[in-house]
Amino acid sequence: MTMLKTLLITGCAGFIGSSLVEKIVDDYQIIGVDEFNDYYNPLWKEENVKNFLNHPHFKLYRTDIRDYQILEEIFRQNKIDKIIHLAARAGVRPSLKDPLLYEEVNVKGTLNLLELSRKNQIKHFIFASSSSVYGNQNKVPFSETDPTDQPISPYAATKKAGELFCRLYNENYQIKMTCLRFFTVYGPKGRPDMAPYLFTKAILNGEEIQKFGDGQTQRDYTYIDDIIEGINKVIEKEFDFEIFNLGNNNPVSLNDFIKNLEEITGKQMQIKQMPIPAGDVVKTYADIAKAKKLLGWQPQTNFKTGLEKFVAWYKNNRLLNMSS
Ligand SMILES: NC(=O)c1ccc[n+]([C@@H]2O[C@H](COP(=O)([O-])OP(=O)(O)OC[C@H]3O[C@@H](n4cnc5c(N)ncnc54)[C@H](O)[C@@H]3O)[C@@H](O)[C@H]2O)c1
Repeated sequence: MTMLKTLLITGCAGFIGSSLVEKIVDDYQIIGVDEFNDYYNPLWKEENVKNFLNHPHFKLYRTDIRDYQILEEIFRQNKIDKIIHLAARAGVRPSLKDPLLYEEVNVKGTLNLLELSRKNQIKHFIFASSSSVYGNQNKVPFSETDPTDQPISPYAATKKAGELFCRLYNENYQIKMTCLRFFTVYGPKGRPDMAPYLFTKAILNGEEIQKFGDGQTQRDYTYIDDIIEGINKVIEKEFDFEIFNLGNNNPVSLNDFIKNLEEITGKQMQIKQMPIPAGDVVKTYADIAKAKKLLGWQPQTNFKTGLEKFVAWYKNNRLLNMSS
């Protein structure tokens, strides 16, 4: 009988974390950590974990990654092989309002986990970084070797700091490290502070959306299943230290986004024009040659198909439940 590997997955009740656990829980022992905070409705996070909460391979710790002592206890109680660190404060705009909180969770929380990885001889650490580390650079697509020293939000700076600490722990303590720069992830269970959710909600309820800028801004929207496939490939394949872009390699303008959503729903969007907020980058666009070459990863879902799936999920899971 082969022993299953044990993964510690932080942020396991969130959008990406719960989608990941759901996909791989048959193949690994999973220790999930999440504080179920109220950045958005915690009941939805309870919903997210329902499908695997009682799975024999899954154990949940409801705790805060800022609490070193509790984390230490989790490492004492479990023999962990790899860490997939997804827990974070994940909003760009809110980070401008509360940078101290973002620093505490995203930097100190990450450092807590890295320290415990060192003390417990963890072999492989996977860190959720973000396309926001590229800031407002003109050169597209963004490749992993491009400069990332001009963040324009506290969130981006915390993600860059996380990458630097990962680098340090690789260099000094030989922990294998993979940093994944996700590009605007969307799909079922998607976050309610992000455009796919906000716009779908508004158009289906006949409410107005706030449209920031003239609609020329672009995002490289990446479907959740593709992101999960990318993380899964990294779990299976260790590198000494690597950073990978995981993006769709096909940016969509805000105007095209709205057009697609109007076609899918058969409704017209009501728009309130707003200036582009501070912290928002103009464009994101992933060069994914490295992930293709080293991971054999290739996103499969084009934007319109993904958005159709998201709208269908929204209608079934949120429209009937107006607590949003
Ligand atoms: N969704 C995206 O488009 C995107 C893009 C780039 C990077 N990321 C990164 O991917 C990761 C997952 O993002 P997501 O979209 O699933 O966000 P999410 O907010 O849905 O999930 C994050 C989870 O972490 C938990 N968490 C937050 N602070 C915690 C703490 N102090 N202790 C324990 N748990 C805590 C939250 O309760 C939540 O369930 C984050 O690190 C985020 O920065 C996401």
